[in-house]
Amino acid sequence: MAAQGTQGSLARLKERLDEAVHVGEARAAAKQHAKGRLTARERIERLLDDGSFVELDALAKGSLGYGDGVVTGYGTVEGRQVCVFSQDFTVAGGSLGEVYGQKICKVMDLAMRNGCPIVGINEGAGARIQEGVVSLGLYGEIFRRNIRASGVIPQISLIMGACAGGHVYSPALTDFTVMVDERSHMFVTGPDVIKTVTGEDVTFEELGGGRVHNARSGVAHYLASDEEDALGYVRALLAYLPDNNLDEPAHPAFEADLTLTADDLALDALVPDSPNQPYDMHEVIAALLDDGEFLETQELFAPNIVVGFGRVEGRPVGVVANQPMRLAGTLDIDASEKAARFVRTCDAFGIPVLTLVDVPGFLPGTGQEWNGIIRRGAKLLYAYGEATVPLVTVITRKAYGGAYDVMGSKHLGADVNLAWSTAQIAVMGAQGAVNVLHRRRLATADDPDALRAELVAEYEDTLATPYLAAERGYVDAVIRPSETRREITRALRLLRNKRDALPPKKHGNIPL
Ligand code: HXC
Repeated sequence: MAAQGTQGSLARLKERLDEAVHVGEARAAAKQHAKGRLTARERIERLLDDGSFVELDALAKGSLGYGDGVVTGYGTVEGRQVCVFSQDFTVAGGSLGEVYGQKICKVMDLAMRNGCPIVGINEGAGARIQEGVVSLGLYGEIFRRNIRASGVIPQISLIMGACAGGHVYSPALTDFTVMVDERSHMFVTGPDVIKTVTGEDVTFEELGGGRVHNARSGVAHYLASDEEDALGYVRALLAYLPDNNLDEPAHPAFEADLTLTADDLALDALVPDSPNQPYDMHEVIAALLDDGEFLETQELFAPNIVVGFGRVEGRPVGVVANQPMRLAGTLDIDASEKAARFVRTCDAFGIPVLTLVDVPGFLPGTGQEWNGIIRRGAKLLYAYGEATVPLVTVITRKAYGGAYDVMGSKHLGADVNLAWSTAQIAVMGAQGAVNVLHRRRLATADDPDALRAELVAEYEDTLATPYLAAERGYVDAVIRPSETRREITRALRLLRNKRDALPPKKHGNIPL
C-alpha cells in the first residue's frame, strides 16, 4: 500500500520526477551520446554557471509524455540571469508540439517580464506533423514573441543539430545565431523536398551547413568547432550585452592609462605609402580595445567589413571597420547589410559604435546593381542615421564618395569624427579623378604618363587629404595614428551621458 502523509507525498514526487526527468534523460543520453552529441539538459548545464539551472515545467505533459521534447528554465551566466530553452531531438526529432510550444512561450514571457536575455538551444525537425495546425499556431506564437522581444532583451540562438522548417525562423528573428561546423544544419525545405520539386541534388551540408550559413547566406554569426565552443561563444557574447534595452551592459569599468604605449606608436607606421597596398584593420582594432580583445561576429561573411565587440575602459563598444585586405575594403551588398544589422543591434542595446574607415567606395558591377546595392546599401545609411548611441568615427585612410557619407560620417549624426594624417577624404581616388577632370589634356599631351603623375600628385596634395574636411569641421581633429586610443577613450568618456531621440513616429521604414 502506498505511504500516506508527507512521506508518501515525497515518495510520489520523487517517482514522478524520476519518470519525467531521469528516465527521459537517460534515454536521451544514450541516443545523443551515441552520435557524439550532448542532451538538451547537458547543453543547458554547460551554458549556465554550475548548478544554477532551475527547470520549469518538467512535469508538463504533452502528446509524447512528460516534457514534450523541450527543456525550459532559467539560471545564470557569469552571475547574470538568463532564460533558456533547449530542444530534445530524441523526442520525435525535436519537432514542435502543443505543450512544447507553450513551454517555450512561457519562458519567453518570463524573460520579457523580467528583462533578461533568452538563449534558445535548437535541434529539431520543425512542426510536429501529428499535431497539425496546433503546431503551426504555436510557431506563430513564438515568432510573435521573438518580434516583440526584439530590441528589448538580447535573444541568442544556438543551432546544435538539424533545424528544419519552423525551427529556423525563430532563430532568424533573434539577434545572433551560432552554428556548429559539420554538426548543424538549417533549411526551410530539406534535400528530399528539393529533389522532388526541382530535381536538384544537394547534401544537408551543401544546403544548410554551418559553413554555408556563416560564409554565404549570412544567416549565422559564428561557426563553432564543436558544441562546447558554441556555448562558450554565447557566454562571451552575453558579457557584452545588457540584460535589456533599459539597462547598461555589465562592465567592470576602470580608468585607462592614456600615455602612449609601444602598441599605440606602432600605428604611426601601419598605413603603407602606396594607397593600393592593404594593411590589416584587425591590427588597428586590437590596438584600440582593452587588452586587444575583440569578439568578432559574422567573421566569415562579407570579410571586407569587420564587426564585433570589445571594451574601452571596461565598457562595451561595437566596432565596425572596413578591411582593406578584402575587396580593398569596398562596400558591397553583403557588407552593407552585415554592418547595418550590427549597428542596429548596438543601437538597440545602448552600445556605442566605433567606426574605422578605409573605404574606396561601393563595389562597382552589374551583379551589385541588379541585386539591389541601391536599396540594400541604403540600409547602412539608415542604420547610422537613426542610431542614437554614441558614435565615434576614425578615418584611417580612404573615405571616398558615397562611402564617406555612409561610414559613420558627421553628416549622418556621428558625435566625434577623427581623421588620421594619412586620411584621404575625397569624391574619388586620384587616378579616377585625374581621368575625369583632365581627359582632354591627357589625350593631347606629349608625355601623358608624366602629366598624369604630376596631376595625381597635385590631387593627392590638395584634394585627397583630411584638411578640407577639417576646415569645415566635418572631422573634429586630424591626429597622429598613435593618438587614437587616447582620443577615442576621451570621446567615449564625453559621450557616456549622451541623450538623443528620434522624432516621434510609429516606426521608420528602413529599406528591406
Ligand atoms: C514529427 C518527426 C518529424 C516531424 C522527424 N520526426 N520529423 N516527427 N514531426 N516534423 C521523427 C521521425 O519520424 C523519427 O522518429 C525521429 O523524428 C527522427 O527523425 P529522422 O528522420 O530519423 O532523423 P534524421 O535522419 O536525423 O533527420 C532529421 C531531419 C528529418 C532532417 C530533421 O527528420 C526531417 O527532414 N524531418 C522533416 C522536417 C520537416 O519537413 N518538418 C516540417 C517543416 S514545416 P522515430 O520514431 O523513427 O525516432 C514547418 C512549418 C512551420 O516547420 C513553418 C513556420 C514558418
